[in-house]
Amino acid sequence: MLKYDIIIIGGGSGGYRSAELLANAGKQVLIIEKEQSIGGVCLNYGCIPTKAYIAVIETIEHIKNAGKLGLDIDYTIKPDMNKILARKDRTVKMLNMGLLKTLNSAGIAIINGIAEFVNEYTIKVNNKTFEADHIIIATGSLDKDIKAVKRDGEFILNSKDMLSLNSIPENLSVIGAGVIGIELAFIFSNLGSKVTIIEYLNSVLPTLNNSVVSSSVEKTLKLSGINVMLNKSVIKADEKGRKIILESGEEIKSDKILVATGRYPIIHKSIKEIGIKMDNNGFIITDKRNRTNINNIYAAGDVTTGPMLAHKAYYDAMIIKNDIIGNGYDKDYTNIPYAIFTVPPVSHAGLTEEICIERGKDYNVKEFSYAHNGRAAAYGARMGFVKMIISKDKQILGITVSGKESDLIIHEVLPLIYNKCKIDAIINTVHIHPTLSEMIAEML
Ligand code: NAI
Repeated sequence: MLKYDIIIIGGGSGGYRSAELLANAGKQVLIIEKEQSIGGVCLNYGCIPTKAYIAVIETIEHIKNAGKLGLDIDYTIKPDMNKILARKDRTVKMLNMGLLKTLNSAGIAIINGIAEFVNEYTIKVNNKTFEADHIIIATGSLDKDIKAVKRDGEFILNSKDMLSLNSIPENLSVIGAGVIGIELAFIFSNLGSKVTIIEYLNSVLPTLNNSVVSSSVEKTLKLSGINVMLNKSVIKADEKGRKIILESGEEIKSDKILVATGRYPIIHKSIKEIGIKMDNNGFIITDKRNRTNINNIYAAGDVTTGPMLAHKAYYDAMIIKNDIIGNGYDKDYTNIPYAIFTVPPVSHAGLTEEICIERGKDYNVKEFSYAHNGRAAAYGARMGFVKMIISKDKQILGITVSGKESDLIIHEVLPLIYNKCKIDAIINTVHIHPTLSEMIAEML
């Protein structure tokens, strides 16, 4: 039996980042991955592929706006889905290869196969057994199905199927106004599909519990011509009639249907058999150091509780690495930032007004419009805002930025929120003029 310091099950964001950090700290690491390619959902079927498509949409936007900037161009935009798909696949492959090279040069062993627990220190894969002092479960998540509309991979699709479409559906219905549904709806609407989003609850992005982000995203969706239907239940999909039928009796023409109603954790039965505890939704319960109820076994990423985000998985990996090398500290998910990658994107970090009220916290709100920023005017990108939540003693509690490059701008404030800094840290910092980032200082 071969022995490693650490065995990691799953080569996605939580798995490969844990492997890199631990190998760099001198540990012998083995990753076991069931797919042929490394990188997990984010790299292969999630964050990266959708961002390759968003780059196409941004380019379409630039072409459409050229006239406003004084560029007279004759154009017809004809998205060629075969070429767009091939470029996305090349991008993913290039990153796959880069990641593999990094892992190889760090001395990390990788085996393809399905890992099974024999006991808390032993894993079986491809009929071989391996032992380790610590095991990290980073097996990720899968798209949920709904009973009324079951995926068939042809008419009814999940997010992975959508990202391998080589044609643009004329009519696309998206069930679920979560982040996955919204990003794919936005992409295909801008490529030419007539898109309807059907959401069961009363707002888009209801699970974020952030009304500022929800209303800003809803505005962007409507501006791009998407029909957003809230408080609606789907009864069934009719493939022959090419439509969706709602409980309200409404029928929506659909050439393809995307089901984006959430994701569930992937748990191999041997994880249950060795007694690892899960919550009612099937997520592995971990403590503040990402340890499961079995002391030497950790869990990272979507398979454990907390936001299902690649950078949260990276954070879990850092918490685990530090705990294993004896330098541990407790995790805190409160300020994990996120962005909704529409064009323009909407980004958020820290507390919202809703949470401050819920917690009885005293706070002030500062708001600033992109319309008052010189660089935004020069870009022709005056739609947007920055909203900051500040405590009575001037600590930055939270920020939402909606508008061009919001996913970049927000990063200036993240270390300040994490380190509980006061706004003076920004006020006393000279910003480059003219930039969009300057808004953060101008508004205070
Ligand atoms: P989600 O849980 O965010 O959204 C699912 C939506 O579907 C909810 O709004 C829910 O109310 C609705 N829904 C559920 N059943 C329904 C039904 N029968 N009919 C109509 N609506 C129904 O899940 P989603 O979008 O699948 O994303 C999974 C995870 O991936 C999320 O935690 C998300 O944060 C993460 N993600 C993050 C991204 C980002 O940060 N940019 C991008 C993509 C995913």
